[in-house]
Amino acid sequence: MAERFYITTPIYYVNAKPHLGHAYTTIVADVARRFHTMRGIETYFLTGTDEHGDKIVEAARSHDMTPKAYVDHISQMFRELWPELDISNDNFIRTTQPAHMAVVERILQEIYDRGDIYFSEYEGLYCFGCERFYTERELVEGKCPDHDKAPEVIRESNYFFKMSKYQDWLIDHIQRHPDFIRPERYRNEVLAFLRDPLDDLCISRPKSRLQWGITLPFDSDYVTYVWFDALVNYISALGFPDGERFNRFWPHAQHVVAKDILKPHGIYWPTMLKAAGVPVYKHLNVHGYWNVDQTKMSKSIGNVVAPLEMIKDYGLDAFRFFLMRDMVFGLDSSFSEDQLVQRINADLANDLGNLFSRVVTMTHKYFQGEVPTLDPGTDKTLQLGLEAAAAQAIVDYETAMARFEFHKGLKAVWAFIGRMNKCIDVSAPWELAKRAASRKELSCVIYNLLEGLRVIAGLVYPVMPATARRMQTHLGLDAEGAFYRLDTIGKWKTLVAGTRLPKSTTLFPRIEVKSAIPSDDQGAPPPLSPELRPEIAIDDFAKVDLRVATVVHAEPIPKAKKLLKLEVDMGERRTIVSGIAQHYKPQDLIGRQVIIVANLKPVKLMGVESRGMLLAAVDGDNCTLATMDALTRLGARIS
Ligand code: MSP
Repeated sequence: MAERFYITTPIYYVNAKPHLGHAYTTIVADVARRFHTMRGIETYFLTGTDEHGDKIVEAARSHDMTPKAYVDHISQMFRELWPELDISNDNFIRTTQPAHMAVVERILQEIYDRGDIYFSEYEGLYCFGCERFYTERELVEGKCPDHDKAPEVIRESNYFFKMSKYQDWLIDHIQRHPDFIRPERYRNEVLAFLRDPLDDLCISRPKSRLQWGITLPFDSDYVTYVWFDALVNYISALGFPDGERFNRFWPHAQHVVAKDILKPHGIYWPTMLKAAGVPVYKHLNVHGYWNVDQTKMSKSIGNVVAPLEMIKDYGLDAFRFFLMRDMVFGLDSSFSEDQLVQRINADLANDLGNLFSRVVTMTHKYFQGEVPTLDPGTDKTLQLGLEAAAAQAIVDYETAMARFEFHKGLKAVWAFIGRMNKCIDVSAPWELAKRAASRKELSCVIYNLLEGLRVIAGLVYPVMPATARRMQTHLGLDAEGAFYRLDTIGKWKTLVAGTRLPKSTTLFPRIEVKSAIPSDDQGAPPPLSPELRPEIAIDDFAKVDLRVATVVHAEPIPKAKKLLKLEVDMGERRTIVSGIAQHYKPQDLIGRQVIIVANLKPVKLMGVESRGMLLAAVDGDNCTLATMDALTRLGARIS
């Protein structure tokens, strides 16, 4: 069977505007879809809106609108948001579309005809927020865990789906397909739930109580329970039962949902499919919840993060990158703008952005903006190791991304970016440029660095499509087709000597962080007084040994708010304790060139021996590290 990839998001309720959580799931699906396209796999990507049920009627009423007018309005907001987030969905389904409604009726009739739907009177605890009945044991202190409200006792006659009949089959299926539900914690959660007898599922609502839904094909006094309707979207959108698309893509279906809707997707949906005689999906990928500043996102708290606001302030690709890099797929994460800014500055402006502009700038400076010629002999002798490092990064990236471990995939790319930055420091092209005899070496270094950038541009494409395109354009590549294929990306020596590159550009501008006034910490260097110090003779100044160094490691010092422990390389490595913790994050410093006082008497600060001092401008609340105008050899003396 040809490998294909069908990815879906939940269809979102149209009772509220799209927020960070919806954006995250949809970006995950988009990243997964783009990644699979890069593998040369035929893909199909579905998202949409869930438009029936009590919740929607309630929301429409509160806006003084008819349900139809209301769902049209909100559904349109979702539809219009996705292009703004560079979402590449092929289809947008709405459960109010006649074609979808016809498939729901068909599935209901099929299961009814097979004898798996029965009519019965039922009294149960109903949560209107969740639109479902709860068992006593599912409640927390008598309340619905999601809505923190006691459910209401409802007694009515309804139709039930014999879900319990499929319990053993489902357990067996999950056990025989270990990655049916992933990550494992959610698989275990579903299996734990299945340890107790499964109740049958109430799949109707009497029209006396709710009219906004799909009428049951076998009883016009009832509408379909919203979940039974909604889940069917995943096959109705493919033209079930005999659409060509259904045959092509359904065997490769993967759903992405958050943990809040694990039960409908992990239990209702596979048993419904089984009962209707339809093969089940391949994987259910479940992620955790985004909280905001450690608190649940909620309208009443007023901390709902609007994706468009974030994009306006920080840029789309930076926002997409942050979401993919900071959440470990499957675990909860806390969103904060501070963290977003730190991530942008450290990983994007600093690591990737600097690397890119350094390499392109050097190509212009030393080769008039043309890709230099690579001499195979020199390449062999120099052994820069970038080709092997890139190959390793691609393998690690592909493995992680295929498992929805996006943060790991990106870490692999950033390990390679670190390797590239190091290669520049070690090979010091500015030194090679000084000697005509080193021309071949210089060409070799720059050529390999440009190749490395080409690989990076390809690998960041699923997460940051616009950045990938910009990088590729600046590498003189036609930003189409072949450069988005993983197998092509891996082919070293793709760049053609003599290709002219456009001038360098800033990929990600650094975002200025406003910092608080530091309090006086024990052990921190004292702030400088604004008035001038006494005059000194040149000989006095000459006693100060100022050197260029690169920060290779940085970490906070426990219990010292203002101090960072840095390891710097100035030809030799040494540890320096610096009072800049309130101005710089450790990850922002790594790879930076700084100026140090190298012959300062060692002192112990908070138990760490410090051998030297970093130079910085300290002005009121601001502290800015002194640095060199252009990349300079490590250890170079400043006079
Ligand atoms: N309509 C149902 C889904 C039916 S699918 C057949 C529904 N809609 S929803 O609008 O409530 O969307 C829930 C989904 O939105 C979650 O599963 C998740 O994908 C996303 N998120 C909503 N809030 C979220 C967070 N705070 N964090 C992460 N994702 C969350 O349930």
